[in-house]
Amino acid sequence: MQYEKLPDGTQIPVLGLGTWQMGGGSSADYSRDDEMVGIIEQAVDMGYTHLDTAEVYGKNHCEELVGRAMKAFNRGDLFITTKVSPDHATYDGVHNAIQGSLKRLDTDYVDLYLIHWPSKDIPQSETFRAMNELVADGRVRRVGVSNYNVEQMQEAIDLCDTAIATNQVRYNLLDRKVVQNGVLGFCREQSIPLTAYSPVKGGVLEHAAVQVMARARGVSPAQIAIRWLIQQPGVITIPMSQDLKHLRDNIAALSFELSPEEMERLDNAGIGD
Ligand SMILES: NC(=O)c1ccc[n+]([C@@H]2O[C@H](COP(=O)([O-])OP(=O)(O)OC[C@H]3O[C@@H](n4cnc5c(N)ncnc54)[C@H](OP(=O)(O)O)[C@@H]3O)[C@@H](O)[C@H]2O)c1
Repeated sequence: MQYEKLPDGTQIPVLGLGTWQMGGGSSADYSRDDEMVGIIEQAVDMGYTHLDTAEVYGKNHCEELVGRAMKAFNRGDLFITTKVSPDHATYDGVHNAIQGSLKRLDTDYVDLYLIHWPSKDIPQSETFRAMNELVADGRVRRVGVSNYNVEQMQEAIDLCDTAIATNQVRYNLLDRKVVQNGVLGFCREQSIPLTAYSPVKGGVLEHAAVQVMARARGVSPAQIAIRWLIQQPGVITIPMSQDLKHLRDNIAALSFELSPEEMERLDNAGIGD
């Protein structure tokens, strides 16, 4: 595995396993539990030690599946990220939410705890009062945010007693909003890694530039899409797959490099092509 440095001097794996849709989407799906746990275990065996989940995934059930899969490994070898939903962003809400997440994950701490979306109603100062306590008492190793704009990130930086570890946002070859709105540039200025979600979604794999380069390099379109992200300074990503072949395919993006010319060609491809 390769790592990106976090502002606190520790490291985060550049490739993690997304888990949205494992154990259900907006409601729980218990029908494929053993299969999903097996897939997560095999993914960890392949090298996906960074698992990204959230309390809302499968209405809590995804965390239970991640927790079951974690039992096959040493806790210290895993990097577990979960997220508190904006509905729970009050002081008491955050405290209750982490208790629930830790119980479902069956662990004493999470490596990274993200505010899933900025709350429209609850001031960040209240949310961070609780987040700071969770870091102080060791239940949370690092705090981060998700779907934040630059202004919201700056406020989070000011309120957080420890370094904000990441902003998890949608970023892929066909979705460059974080470039246009300055979030990627701001993260780089602050030495905060940006976690790109949905790296292969939304027509990325069918894009002509990706297909042509994949054929020329003898790799898959997904490897091109993922490699383009993780080769950028300060960018990590968390593709989700429930298919072992795709999981192997995606992690192989760590094993080759795009030339500066290829990176530039992909930089210039994208929206509107
Ligand atoms: N913070 C947030 O608000 C937020 C929002 C969205 C997502 N996320 C996180 O980011 C993770 C990734 O994002 P995502 O799930 O939206 O999108 P994604 O990982 O870009 O795409 C997942 C889809 O791509 C397919 N896929 C994966 N690898 C493939 C490959 N090599 N070849 C062909 N198809 C492939 C998967 O199908 P198969 O299962 O068939 O491979 C699945 O349908 C999520 O799982 C979640 O953990 C966070």
